[in-house]
Amino acid sequence: MPDKPHFRTVIEPFIIKSVQPIRMTTTEERERFLQDAHYNLFKIEAQNVLIDLLTDSGTGAMSSEQWAAIMRGDESYAGSLSYQRFESTVKDIFGFTHVIPTHQGRAAERILFTVMCKEGNVVPNNTHFDTTRANVEYRGAQAIDLVIDEGRDPASRHPFKGNMNLEKLEKLINNVGAKKIPLCMITITNNSGGGQPVAMENIKAVRKLLNKYGIPLYFDACRFAENAFFIKLREKGYENISVPEIVKEMFSYGDGCTMSAKKDGLANIGGFLCTNEGDLAQQEKNLLILTEGFPTYGGLAGRDLEAIAVGLREVLDEDYLLYRISEAKYLGEGLTDIGYPIVQPPGGHAIYIDAKALLPHIPQLQYPGQALSVELYRRGGIRTVEIGSVMFGKVDQKTRVETPGAMELVRLALPRRVHTQSHVDYVLEVAKEVYANRESIPGYRITEQPPFLRHFMAKFEPV
Ligand code: F0G
Repeated sequence: MPDKPHFRTVIEPFIIKSVQPIRMTTTEERERFLQDAHYNLFKIEAQNVLIDLLTDSGTGAMSSEQWAAIMRGDESYAGSLSYQRFESTVKDIFGFTHVIPTHQGRAAERILFTVMCKEGNVVPNNTHFDTTRANVEYRGAQAIDLVIDEGRDPASRHPFKGNMNLEKLEKLINNVGAKKIPLCMITITNNSGGGQPVAMENIKAVRKLLNKYGIPLYFDACRFAENAFFIKLREKGYENISVPEIVKEMFSYGDGCTMSAKKDGLANIGGFLCTNEGDLAQQEKNLLILTEGFPTYGGLAGRDLEAIAVGLREVLDEDYLLYRISEAKYLGEGLTDIGYPIVQPPGGHAIYIDAKALLPHIPQLQYPGQALSVELYRRGGIRTVEIGSVMFGKVDQKTRVETPGAMELVRLALPRRVHTQSHVDYVLEVAKEVYANRESIPGYRITEQPPFLRHFMAKFEPV
């Protein structure tokens, strides 16, 4: 950590060396784009988006050191030098024995659950990310979310809302029997719960509990550096411990991890799977060869492995992490000041607006989250993602009766090292105008939808 900053402004700790122009659009143009896209923001061309907050995954800016490393990429099929650099970096930072590269996080998940899970098994997690849940369920196993109650309450300001509920975990183990639980996962930070961190104390306690029953612990490590930095800022005893040391300690309680390098790997593509167990690693590598590639590249180019190796070091820089979480905090506090109800406190990578509370005049099945998302794009060209009934609502295929999702959220995810504070100020200005006009925002109805993952392809019209 640098000297305690005595200036209030947290600056972007980098200069801009290469730029991609933003194409300005008018409200009239955007209205037309919306109509052409049937009010589905996934169908808007990226060139027609001013500020793209759809996801923080693979959308970050790489550093000059990463681009330089890309030129060193060794594209040998077997035993490439780039793999050696990648492997030694991951081992050094995470501390696991076996490192298996994959093309992204979900590929690591598929391999892990294929090898470790059987039909009828149960996998607990604080909150499964969608692809994690899907991969568990695809094996015929059950994915159970056991985050603490505060983690489900948007207004609660608990410092570690991603924590696992230990009583519920022990109860589950006793109910189904340890033999049916091939592994337990912890997602750091808890994306589906608002990007909220998990405390070291909680990780340690989960490990202790699992030891009692002989159950392995795996991390979904996508945003591990952001989680470690929250521990440093919020957990007693870690104020003066360096982030790399905190990371080492976190992973020392695990038997392995899955990772999407598109997040805290600061890369545009890539992921990996780690384990300490030789037998498992062998089976995982056999599967890897079947669908991803030879174990020294795993579906990635040598240059991608280089970019990840450099990114994993850069993400541990505390000036970077301070800037990173300050950006989310600045956006979250700005929205709160305007009057927006958001998931509190601001998480590591995104802000989640509670659209149901914001737009009480729109019934859940007229999709308040979708309505807010569309309005942010219409007024200011900002693209966000609905995480509500469009994404999670269920239509009974026989009766056509629709059950809404549990919450109606809109996520504003911040790509890493991409936007400046004036971009965020612009988002806040647009949000203020949307807020002032919130009572006139219409609901939407779906005119066409596929039977699953409908949010990507559905067509809408205003009610
Ligand atoms: N786990 C978590 C917690 C994630 O957030 C993601 C991706 C994955 C696993 C899967 O990784 O995309 O590399 O296959 N989250 C992105 C998002 C897509 O927008 O939150 P992947």
